[in-house]
Amino acid sequence: MLTLTNIGKTIAGRQILKDVSLTVNDGETLCIVGPSGAGKTTLLRIITGLADFDQGQIQLNQQDFQPSRDNLQQGVIGVVFQDFRLFPHLTTLENVMLAPKLTGLLSADDAQKQATALLTQLGLAQQAEQYPFQLSGGQKQRVSIARALALKPQILCYDEPTSALDPNLRDSVSHLLLQLKQTGMTQIVVTHDLTFAEQIADQTYHLAPLQ
Ligand SMILES: Nc1ncnc2c1ncn2[C@@H]1O[C@H](COP(=O)(O)OP(=O)(O)O)[C@@H](O)[C@H]1O
Ligand SMILES: [Mg+2]
Repeated sequence: MLTLTNIGKTIAGRQILKDVSLTVNDGETLCIVGPSGAGKTTLLRIITGLADFDQGQIQLNQQDFQPSRDNLQQGVIGVVFQDFRLFPHLTTLENVMLAPKLTGLLSADDAQKQATALLTQLGLAQQAEQYPFQLSGGQKQRVSIARALALKPQILCYDEPTSALDPNLRDSVSHLLLQLKQTGMTQIVVTHDLTFAEQIADQTYHLAPLQ
């Protein structure tokens, strides 16, 4: 269970987030919705430890949790970036194997076995030896999800998972996220797409721009 209490963030003298309080229970999908500029990406960066917050408190399983310190060490909260950020010089398989191998979480052999299993689970077995430039947007996204899952996160976050894709792929993304929910994954999904949010959310948090 992840709890944010009165989170605030000021960037360059301007308050971007104020009193953001929310709880995501285990196995639940929380959608954070709001217009462009509302601070959705900033909030996701705070939750995943890529940015600090200036006010409030974050708890994971009722323990104080500072993502920028604790998550970067423990990798409990994974992230799928809006633009996927795959390593262009690595194959699909290598992209998914890299982090568990580098962090020492798995041996090279086990990292490869796990990556192969994840690629099969996500329907990417045929793409294992391809490079990112050879993949479609939807395939790149699934590689990015496989790469995040390879670190065995408790919570997986997505920044606008439908925005870089063809609109007709929206249903396949919601299908995929619902499939992951069935495996017990806790998910936080940032989106400005309310129809998409309706398809997947157990809970929706509305973020409004402050000014
Ligand atoms: N590093 C930064 N420096 C200056 N302004 C920023 C920075 N990051 C975000 N902002 C500002 O914070 C606001 C919220 O941005 P963002 O979190 O990207 O919103 P959203 O993802 O909802 O579109 C925007 O006005 C943006 O310009
Ligand atoms: Mg954004």
